[in-house]
Amino acid sequence: MNLTEITEGNTKLLIPKHRELSKRDVVFFNPEMQLSRDISVIIANTVKAEKFCDVLAGTGARGIRIANESKIKEIVINDKNPRAYELISMNRKLNDVDVRIENLDANLLLSKERFDFIDIDPFGTPVRFIDSALRSIMNNGILSITATDTSALCGTHPRACIRKYDSIPLRTDYYNELGLRILIAYIGRSALRYNIAVVPIFSHCTRHYFRAYLIAKRSRRLANNTIEKIKFIAHCFNCLKRKYISLNEIDDLYCECGHRFRIAGRLWADTLADKKFCGDMLKTLRTLNSLGEINFSLGLEKLIGLIGSEQDVVKPYYDIHKIFKRLKMPSLSMSKIEEMLSENNIILRRTHFSNIGIRTDADVEDLYAILG
Ligand SMILES: C[S@@+](CC[C@H](N)C(=O)[O-])C[C@H]1O[C@@H](n2cnc3c(N)ncnc32)[C@H](O)[C@@H]1O
Repeated sequence: MNLTEITEGNTKLLIPKHRELSKRDVVFFNPEMQLSRDISVIIANTVKAEKFCDVLAGTGARGIRIANESKIKEIVINDKNPRAYELISMNRKLNDVDVRIENLDANLLLSKERFDFIDIDPFGTPVRFIDSALRSIMNNGILSITATDTSALCGTHPRACIRKYDSIPLRTDYYNELGLRILIAYIGRSALRYNIAVVPIFSHCTRHYFRAYLIAKRSRRLANNTIEKIKFIAHCFNCLKRKYISLNEIDDLYCECGHRFRIAGRLWADTLADKKFCGDMLKTLRTLNSLGEINFSLGLEKLIGLIGSEQDVVKPYYDIHKIFKRLKMPSLSMSKIEEMLSENNIILRRTHFSNIGIRTDADVEDLYAILG
């Protein structure tokens, strides 16, 4: 293996010199996923986990960073690729960290052992690892799950989404939010079979991937409550109205504007992160920054702040360009929109999903009346 050494966060990493960023790589490493690994480090420093497993580790970047940059005591790093195993061993030595390395199929490892923090970072969809992760996770443990098959989740390939996630996607103006909601609903529904309620504490959509961090609570009562959080959405492509609906409300649904609603789901119809937890993450980030040991990606503080604040509104965001196109007016500035809505006592939140997105509980008719 032709290797090169980099530093990410506060950790030295040997990575393959030649990378295609595909399954064909001898060992996979994508430097652009630093932000995702930074967030894992912040979360590992915020929660009280004791036994972390990086089950699809590649070079071991995430697990080695967590061993080096957090206080979690027991770390297991696994990859079924023998070349990855070799490289993880070299990275362990380079950083002199105490981690156990395994060279197993992820599902086999998760069937043998239990953890209170499991990271699943696959090529494409995580669905084939969800069941074994749910069986392995301890009560109140954390699951962190990546999905990079955004074309399925966001509706470019709807049949792939139906096949993998048992959910109908829709290419709406908030297609990326819908994709994340479909992913979380899939994890939530899988968890119900084990009497587990999942609670998203943080989730984000960045470039080509989704990432969700969820607490798994083993409780039949809480699992029953979760059922109410998994719904469908009715979307009108004419006037842009959208509303969450339950199964028994799906019929020949027509929007007030006369057009037929299109239906997507099942999807997660509750918060995508815990606002208080986001505040705790910010405190962790500031403390770590003040120590000056770890170099985090730029923009992390803004991203976490935005994700925390946007949880005040669960309804999917509106694309302001689409709103003004329908009004046949040039777009107003975000600050002007904010001012006009707040004069009408309407809450507005910005969203990390789009810099031209606004979150509000207001109906689309009210937006047209106020902004038009
Ligand atoms: C996207 S890469 C992981 C990247 C890594 N987490 C990082 O942050 O750099 C996915 C990894 O999963 C491994 N893998 C794929 N299927 C697996 C399985 N069934 N069991 C264990 N490892 C597997 C691959 O060898 C690959 O290294």
